[in-house]
Amino acid sequence: MPQIFKPAANYIARASLILGLLAPLIIGYGVAAITRSPANTKVQVPINQPIPFSHQHHTWELGIDCRYCHTSVEVSAEAGFPSTETCMSCHSQIWTNSPLLEPIRKSFETGTPIKWNKVNKVPEFVYFNHSIHITRGINCNTCHGPMQQQHITYKGNAFQMQWCLQCHRAPERYVYADEKNPHMSPRQQVFNLYWKYQAGDELTAREHKILGGEYGGSDGADEKKAGKELLAKYGVKVQQLADCAVCHH
Ligand code: HEC
Ligand code: HEC
Ligand code: HEC
Ligand code: HEC
Ligand code: HEC
Repeated sequence: MPQIFKPAANYIARASLILGLLAPLIIGYGVAAITRSPANTKVQVPINQPIPFSHQHHTWELGIDCRYCHTSVEVSAEAGFPSTETCMSCHSQIWTNSPLLEPIRKSFETGTPIKWNKVNKVPEFVYFNHSIHITRGINCNTCHGPMQQQHITYKGNAFQMQWCLQCHRAPERYVYADEKNPHMSPRQQVFNLYWKYQAGDELTAREHKILGGEYGGSDGADEKKAGKELLAKYGVKVQQLADCAVCHH
């Protein structure tokens, strides 16, 4: 009886078996790569707003504190958006003829709030809380990118699970205290960084990176040691920080 399968068929069979095993991985990786591309996650893509509000003008050039507009950021889960009255506290007196501010004046007259388009969002099944991060000294820009340089606001990070976990698994690589003001409370540390920048004070390499929104943690032995001490001082339960229930409950 002649051989039905030639030896070469073995290779084909083996190759297709391997390909069959790999295919789901390859497809899965492809889908992951697509969902992570900037086009999909819109990282660093400015989002159109009803009014072209500039953080660079208001926070850096004018030096307005984040909390003047995002009033609840250090006390509640949500940072919140400013009311029309907050804008009008200045714009009823300055730049009153600017056509760019027409929607604000209209909103003030009619009492209809401005509908800002949301830039950052985590899915419904993810729990997030601003205040706990601010009271542990995590600067806004670590998550939102260089806010003091943004004209039209964009998303600084995609907020994928891995990204959150990178810090939750080793927060000692991220927490920081100003070397010159080590006794400031962690939340003072967060906001003081903007004042230092605005005043043109000398910044450490780490401070530059934090403000630039490109701080990915430090592997320096000294910095990790200092980070561990800070976490102990703040009473952070590091072992539990990466538990699923922290973010999904
Ligand atoms: C004068 C008011 C004002 C100040 C001061 C201000 N913001 Fe904002 N912020 C706004 C407004 C209005 C929006 C909504 C429009 C937009 O996205 O730009 C906003 C949006 C944001 C968003 C995006 C929110 C979303 O939709 O996800 C972030 C992040 C943010 N601000 C961070 C900051 C930080 C950090 C500071 C301090 C360095 C700051 N803001 C200071 C008014 C302000
Ligand atoms: C503490 C005062 C203050 C507050 C509060 C404030 N602004 Fe302003 N805003 C200014 C000043 C001053 C300028 C002019 C900045 C410049 O061009 O140098 C300005 C400029 C602007 C401009 C540019 C106007 C133009 O014609 O170029 C827009 C748009 C604007 N603000 C929107 C807002 C919105 C929206 C809010 C509320 C979320 C707000 N501002 C809150 C002080 C303020
Ligand atoms: C640890 C990361 C992290 C830090 C630090 C952080 N944010 Fe956020 N921020 C987020 C996430 C995640 C969202 C989306 C939340 C959601 O969808 O519920 C968000 C949303 C926002 C929004 C939209 C409104 C809201 O409350 O959802 C504003 C405004 C904002 N952040 C401002 C700030 C300011 C100002 C600071 C610093 C004082 C800050 N954030 C610090 C991660 C962070
Ligand atoms: C740069 C570091 C860092 C990043 C990034 C970060 N976190 Fe955190 N997170 C912390 C620290 C530190 C705490 C404080 C833990 C404590 O004090 O018990 C915390 C606490 C929390 C808590 C509160 C747990 C509780 O006890 O209420 C939640 C929820 C949370 N983070 C969700 C997130 C999510 C979701 C993301 C991503 C969008 C994120 N975090 C990104 C450092 C970070
Ligand atoms: C520090 C916060 C945090 C912790 C801890 C965490 N997750 Fe998540 N998880 C997230 C965020 C944020 C997303 C949304 C990711 C996105 O939108 O791309 C997510 C998404 C998911 C999803 C949806 C699929 C996906 O990957 O987007 C699953 C399933 C999930 N998490 C399971 C878990 C399990 C199981 C654990 C424990 C081993 C866990 N998570 C721990 C923040 C967290």
